[in-house]
Amino acid sequence: MNAPTLHGAFARAAVAGLTSDPKALSPKWLYDARGAGLFEAITDLPEYYPTRTEIALLRACADELVAGIGVDAAVVEFGAGSSLKTPILLGALERPAIYAPIDISETYLEQSAGGIRARFPDLTVRPVLGDFMRLAALPQQVMAHEGPKVGFFPGSTIGNLDPDAMHAFLCSARTLLGEGARFIVGVDVPKSADILIPAYDDAQGVTAAFNLNLLQRMNTELGADFDLDAFRHEARWNAAASRVEMHLVSKLAQKVRVHGVTVAFQTGESIHTESSCKLSPEAFLARAEKAGWRSGGLWRDPQNLFSIHRLII
Ligand code: AVI
Repeated sequence: MNAPTLHGAFARAAVAGLTSDPKALSPKWLYDARGAGLFEAITDLPEYYPTRTEIALLRACADELVAGIGVDAAVVEFGAGSSLKTPILLGALERPAIYAPIDISETYLEQSAGGIRARFPDLTVRPVLGDFMRLAALPQQVMAHEGPKVGFFPGSTIGNLDPDAMHAFLCSARTLLGEGARFIVGVDVPKSADILIPAYDDAQGVTAAFNLNLLQRMNTELGADFDLDAFRHEARWNAAASRVEMHLVSKLAQKVRVHGVTVAFQTGESIHTESSCKLSPEAFLARAEKAGWRSGGLWRDPQNLFSIHRLII
């Protein structure tokens, strides 16, 4: 997405989300350059178990994960972020041919493509700037590739999609990757709120800064006049929906202007900025199967904190 299109989409999403009841915005808007940096910092926090657990699990199961794929694979990474985990997969594959990271953030894409090129000089790297939820096609070189295709979606980013979006994404990934593809998906699993809440509301306040940065982004990009001190970050465990929710709670009754529209807040009213669903292997597989995938393997860490699924068509 180019900059004016992205700006227009953000303005429309912000106005629609802030004038709806309850107020909500898609978590994808958390990732401007500063938000992307803050998310990187979150992944290093002692409370945020998903990243280090998934990395250790990927290292432990990499050979099993790629078993049977063979040479010359094209790897497509959805919402690639900084591609922190990609070298583990690429390193386990035998002579992978193409790597196509897809991301909405140019900062992320440049960083990750550069890092992978330096590390795997024989690999063709084809970055795709765009929203993986709205992708009509993969790069021609990937579509025409005759070797095996491997989708990669680590980090439990799939948990940030609401059920309809998750279904649409799993169907679209199936169509894009095609018959015979493997899809490796990292999925965070349900666990005690005593572990979950600190993971989304850490002692150093990095997650709070990540969430509040959305208001700063609206101020900078949309000419909004949010007073960041008048809102606080809150992480809530919604047990019925099996998800951690991030909210920005208004500390007082106030009015804010966003892109020419006045938005009123009651004291305690919040903007729901992210849901992070925690799915048991059974719950995730039920959704994957509904979208036409079958299980081709499941790996879990010894503490049962996280899961990696290999889906096949
Ligand atoms: C990117 N995503 C999987 C993270 C998560 O855990 O849902 C985003 C995040 N939000 C707060 N901390 C991390």
